[in-house]
Amino acid sequence: MRHRQFYLILISFIVVVVVLNAFWLIKFKQSPVKGGMMSNTNSRISNNQEKQHRLIVPPVLKPDSIDNNNIYYTLRAQTGVTQLLSGKKTKTYGYNGSFLGPTIRVEKGVNIYIRTQNHLKQSTSFHWHGAILPSSSDGGPHQTVAAGQSRLINFKVNQPAATLWYHPHAVGSTAIQVYKGLAGFLLVDDQNSRRIKLPKTYGKDDFPVVVQDRNFDKNNQLNYRQAASSNGTLGDKLLVNGTQNPYIETTTKYIRLRLLNGSNARKYIFKLNDGRPLYQIGTDGGFLKKPVPEKQIILTPGERAEVVVDLGGYSQESQVKLKSKESSVLTMRIKSNRGGEAKLPHRLTNIQSVNNFNRKVVQNITLSGMGHMVSINNKQFSMKRIDIKVKQNTTQIWKISNKDNMMGEIHPFHIHGVQFRLLSVNGNTPASNMQGRKDTIMTRPGNQYKIMIKFTQPGVFMYHCHNLEHEETGMMGQIQVVP
Ligand code: C2O
Ligand code: CU
Repeated sequence: MRHRQFYLILISFIVVVVVLNAFWLIKFKQSPVKGGMMSNTNSRISNNQEKQHRLIVPPVLKPDSIDNNNIYYTLRAQTGVTQLLSGKKTKTYGYNGSFLGPTIRVEKGVNIYIRTQNHLKQSTSFHWHGAILPSSSDGGPHQTVAAGQSRLINFKVNQPAATLWYHPHAVGSTAIQVYKGLAGFLLVDDQNSRRIKLPKTYGKDDFPVVVQDRNFDKNNQLNYRQAASSNGTLGDKLLVNGTQNPYIETTTKYIRLRLLNGSNARKYIFKLNDGRPLYQIGTDGGFLKKPVPEKQIILTPGERAEVVVDLGGYSQESQVKLKSKESSVLTMRIKSNRGGEAKLPHRLTNIQSVNNFNRKVVQNITLSGMGHMVSINNKQFSMKRIDIKVKQNTTQIWKISNKDNMMGEIHPFHIHGVQFRLLSVNGNTPASNMQGRKDTIMTRPGNQYKIMIKFTQPGVFMYHCHNLEHEETGMMGQIQVVP
């Protein structure tokens, strides 16, 4: 009898799943992706054998002015047309240009003022992903800038050297605006990062690398609608800093890549084509304690990894490829490898290790669902609801659980306004390249992640799945940090 009940429940569950699946396939019936909803892990990027193009390196944004410790910038969200593919140009969005944005490079301790201007025909916001700042400057859904308007934001850079980024965050248009090109790097430097012996000449041996998959129609126009499903857009073309099939020419022994997964939903598994290690030196929020050699580095949307590639063992005129699965991401053509750094430093920073596994969990966050049913703690986002309240300057342990389901969705979990530390994965010590400062972590179905967070900034902050279609579908909550 018990068994029969069990099977009945199981069968009805399967029926529900199949029906939901069918619903989504019908709603997005042009989905180009074979395998429907399970596509996040399966769909491919066509590895076009087209010509290689020199990697575009976004310019560093020049300040409008500087006085003492204050630096003033202008950042404008705008429309444009960009030569992304060969043939017809593509209608795109960008910051101070037609696609993507300039790199904003700031020093720890300075006060930055950014005049953000919205030249789009719709509202947007300017969110500083990974920055530790008061919520009034965070650029989340509560700080939108209406079409034609501008807003002055200000914050003091108060965190260690790191590769952060910025992108829009208005409810209902985040995903499509990022898709059309709104994203840029925000690099923080500090005394340590300037002193340390690592490649650091921007655009020469130190490269920002934002990786994004996109879907184009026959006229070379971005086709968000066709690519979208509620489990995320997946494109079949890969753009790196807006460059298709990019290469760089290298003349140094070591090069540093600041990898950013700026895609809406795709995860990447970065590796070198010949299996040599990538030396990971940094995570979302700054340096690791020491370089960690890794055969592969997985990044889900929103995550960053700084890696150093050792080109010392390669002969001149050879080339190495950074790949993700079977697709080429970046070709490094070795022109010469003299004049590089002597050796990678043993110690990058003195970040403390965290192993208080036994501290009490004060927040349980359960990520679940698929399609339009995604939720956090069984709720969908509401601007009017504060989900969690925390007293400012308290340190908390959260347990993030990705509830197992049949579709097995990965959810990249992100929190605004903080850098947290990963304490454990299913009770075990995380891999050493996961022990640095993080603001986004990949959560796999069925797994549990304990993180330690200190909320130092006042205001209302978002936490959400950084699969941007999941976020838009309601996989987001709000935390209020009370002084
Ligand atoms: Cu990268 Cu809430 O954002
Ligand atoms: Cu998700």
